Amino acid sequence: MRQKIVAGNWKMNKTFLEAEELVAQVAEALEKRNLSNTAVVLCPPFPYLELATDIAKEAKFSVGAQNVYPDDSGAFTGEVSPPMLASMEVEYCIIGHSERRKYFTESHEFLARKLDALLRHKIIPVFCCGEVLPERVAKKHFKVVEKQLNESLFHLKKNDMAKVVIAYEPVWAIGTGMNATPEQAQEMHAFIRGLIEKKYSKKLAEEITILYGGSCNAKNAKELFVKPDVDGGLIGGASLKAEEFIAIVDSL
Ligand code: PGA
Repeated sequence: MRQKIVAGNWKMNKTFLEAEELVAQVAEALEKRNLSNTAVVLCPPFPYLELATDIAKEAKFSVGAQNVYPDDSGAFTGEVSPPMLASMEVEYCIIGHSERRKYFTESHEFLARKLDALLRHKIIPVFCCGEVLPERVAKKHFKVVEKQLNESLFHLKKNDMAKVVIAYEPVWAIGTGMNATPEQAQEMHAFIRGLIEKKYSKKLAEEITILYGGSCNAKNAKELFVKPDVDGGLIGGASLKAEEFIAIVDSL
């Protein structure tokens, strides 16, 4: 069955004490909830992962990293490897986020390496894709997303592909307050599912989780999540306050 997910991408926010408080608040709120077939994932910055995985042991959320380096160890100052994440019981890792593509010039090929490395260490990749505004205006958004999937994801064998979570995040919607309409999200999610069906199988396309991300908040989450191919959200700004994040979880 297709897994529903609400994941909070904290990005580069929160001090240690603030992180501790937010994790505790989310854990407490989730305690009272019945989350059958819904995974809640917190993706704090690297220094707070251990704090989060420690609390997660007794709580109803999982922990994800926001980035990873594709080698297992070595002279890569400042980087964090998949075995390090796995050894801290980190279950998910975001890759291909548009901010990493833009500010750190991460290529399709580099992302493919990260993806393979994560899968080798049994960490679930949350693979982000999405077009920038001029590409949408030029009606190239389907082509752009198809290329991102083709070049970083579709080399995977079927059993590995089945482990991947995809997040459609139109770049023009990220942090802008201008979310994609539910129709725009549904249209792209259905397109992605169609590509997976063509490349792999109908069964796999049906089973894969596709999240929407980009200015998703407590007000618009329900209308997005109600769409048949939207299986939850990757939440940035609105994941930084427990109350709003939990309201989004409740919208699923
Ligand atoms: P946003 O970010 O919710 O703040 O738009 C989403 C994301 O970048 O994952």
